[in-house]
Amino acid sequence: MHITIRQLQVFDAVARHLSYTRAAEELHLTQPAVSMQIKQLEGSVGLPLFEQIGKTIYLTQAGDAMLSHARSIMQNLAAAEEEMDQLKGVDSGRLKVAIASTVNYFATQLLAVFAREHPTVEISLDVTNREALLSRLEANIPDLVLMGKPPADLDLIAEPFMENPLIMIASPDHPLAGKKNVRLTELEGEDFVVREPGSGTRVAMERFFAEQCFVHQKGMELMGNEAVKQGVEAGLGLAVVSVHTVEQELTLNRLVPLHVHGLPIMRRWYVAHRRGKKLSATARSFRDFVLRAGAEARLAS
Ligand code: PGA
Repeated sequence: MHITIRQLQVFDAVARHLSYTRAAEELHLTQPAVSMQIKQLEGSVGLPLFEQIGKTIYLTQAGDAMLSHARSIMQNLAAAEEEMDQLKGVDSGRLKVAIASTVNYFATQLLAVFAREHPTVEISLDVTNREALLSRLEANIPDLVLMGKPPADLDLIAEPFMENPLIMIASPDHPLAGKKNVRLTELEGEDFVVREPGSGTRVAMERFFAEQCFVHQKGMELMGNEAVKQGVEAGLGLAVVSVHTVEQELTLNRLVPLHVHGLPIMRRWYVAHRRGKKLSATARSFRDFVLRAGAEARLAS
């Protein structure tokens, strides 16, 4: 069926007025133009939609059925138009953000500020490690992600917004605590508490150790930053973590940084999305907000 929206509008007008003349007046068309549209629609449908008895026209059974479809198509179209109009505005719609678990230590605060400025935006936040984040991106689930350096094989638009230094932490009673210029070779017998496979922090740590030809002792493998920090506090070993994850523990002296030669590993946080993704006005505004917040944090430090 080759039916146009215009034909459905004309059909609806004729069906309401049961008059070609009045439908033509309403639509600012000529009466023959209206009859032509109805004829074409009847041709596409393959059935007569109106019948004339005496001077009066009536909907046929097919016309009656077609009318309810025509109205629901037009209602759907109006709803689509309304939703598109809303999405053009910054203060509406949904925003799906996925973040690396390590980003969670500051991203929730960023989101809280953004949510206060845009109270009608519905925000969903997915917190997961780097590997899971990449598979979400591949499945085109989030609008935006906040993550470590994106891999080259995924076609992303990524902009750095904040430094992410990785430091080595120990419990305060560790013999090397407070010592300057610790060499990696001094850590040869030490146990390391490491993040789960799939963690970007872990990949960066392993890359750094490999570059330094340092083979670390396998300690415990723990899921997530909190478990790693608690493991180090409990004396299970040393760990490499993002400085963002331990700000409180360092201030409270529950953990201490080790001043190891070559550290911190300087990484950066990126705000990224799939190339070709049509970002809504809300998503664009969140991306700009993150970039601004990063610039302000740099100025303040
Ligand atoms: P993660 O952090 O260790 O929580 O995966 C992401 C990253 O550092 O790339």
